[in-house]
Amino acid sequence: MRSIFSPHPPLKPLIFPLTRPFMASSVSQVLDPPTSPDDSICSSSPLHHQDAAQPEEDPSSSSAVPSCVSPSPNGYLTGESRAERAWAHWIELGRPKFVVAPMVDNSELPFRMLCRKYGADAAYTPMLHSRIFTENEKYRTQEFTTCKEDRPLFVQFCANDPDTLLEAAGRVQPHCDYVDINFGCPQRIARRGYYGAFLMDNLPLVKSLVEKLAQNHIRVSCKIRIFPKLEDTISYAKMLEEAGCWVLAVHGRTRDEKDGKKFRADWKAIKAVREAVRIPVLANGNIRHMEDVHDCLEETGVEGVLSAETLLENPAVFAGYRTPEWVSAGEEEEKHRDGLLDQADLAVEYLKLCEEYPVPWRMIRSHVHKMLGEWFRVHPHVREDLNSQSKLTFEFLYDMVDRLKKLGGRIPLYVKDADVAKS
Ligand SMILES: Cc1cc2nc3c(=O)[nH]c(=O)nc-3n(C[C@H](O)[C@H](O)[C@H](O)COP(=O)(O)O)c2cc1C
Repeated sequence: MRSIFSPHPPLKPLIFPLTRPFMASSVSQVLDPPTSPDDSICSSSPLHHQDAAQPEEDPSSSSAVPSCVSPSPNGYLTGESRAERAWAHWIELGRPKFVVAPMVDNSELPFRMLCRKYGADAAYTPMLHSRIFTENEKYRTQEFTTCKEDRPLFVQFCANDPDTLLEAAGRVQPHCDYVDINFGCPQRIARRGYYGAFLMDNLPLVKSLVEKLAQNHIRVSCKIRIFPKLEDTISYAKMLEEAGCWVLAVHGRTRDEKDGKKFRADWKAIKAVREAVRIPVLANGNIRHMEDVHDCLEETGVEGVLSAETLLENPAVFAGYRTPEWVSAGEEEEKHRDGLLDQADLAVEYLKLCEEYPVPWRMIRSHVHKMLGEWFRVHPHVREDLNSQSKLTFEFLYDMVDRLKKLGGRIPLYVKDADVAKS
């Protein structure tokens, strides 16, 4: 694993202490020495990266403007050119279709790597708090880890101060493809902290956050919720595009529609946004299996889809696997077969990735509960045993998965040949 915020001097291999207080690690970790100047930019002072200094409008800054994009005669990039630049980058990344959504405490490096192995083309980090990220080195080291294979990557921040956001963004930009701003979080904590979907009441601030990054050579993406009125959503999306957003992810629910199980996401609104802007758009909501993915791509015309809750239970969804819940009875059932993979297999793979890329135990505990939830329903005493462990170890967790398997009643993941062919 590469810890990119190491306080240690660069150029020497770095060794983590054998046990770190909050991190799951059974082995000492030898970190790669930095291979480029980028690797050390986060070590001491903020924003010493060359990308983070000049405004976009400076025509002398050739790195900001690819050859396919021409500035207007006064040196300013036109909206058209900005869209072309956004598309050039998106295409360079291979036009990711299947994307791991941002999830606090849940879309961390080992989970992203597991989802990538099973078909995800790109992933978001969990939301990071921009102010704490700039101020607290321990937070940076613990909450944001990545590795060479962890691309394309969106690093997501919540923010309400453009300068603080820029400082945080400058630290991660060399290690990701987009710096994302969370404009979608509807939780009470976001209301109290004044970020996420609560900034929908202050669009001038939203605009200034996006502009700040865009004008300072940060590839900025935004994740939004929709407004109750379609025309408001459209104006919002156009404003974000105009402010310099490179990729727009639209969660098709309003700020008040918090419960994803209760409220269907509005794909029609997502389609309308896609038609109204020129930058790549991603859709979020209602993805339970690959059939939903293909329906969503077809109905909305977006570039790709984000999935959150479904991936937590079934990290292999983008490889065409589905949980029994989505194998309907009767005729349909005949079209599905045992995919020879199950959530216990995936949990073991995830644990191995956690040994390779240490993360806080609270994240591991959360994933184990979600991936093995159905198995625990059949064998509740195993869940109780897990809950009674105040301190977890990998040995305990591997042994627990073994016990579940030996108790019987395996729950397979199913595949449908049509899904696998398309995935
Ligand atoms: C555990 C969890 C954590 C989440 N954390 C974030 C987050 O950090 N940032 C964000 O923009 N959305 C977050 N979300 C929302 C998801 O990214 C996504 O927008 C939402 O769950 C709808 O997608 P789904 O229907 O595929 O679940 C989170 C969702 C879950 C379930």
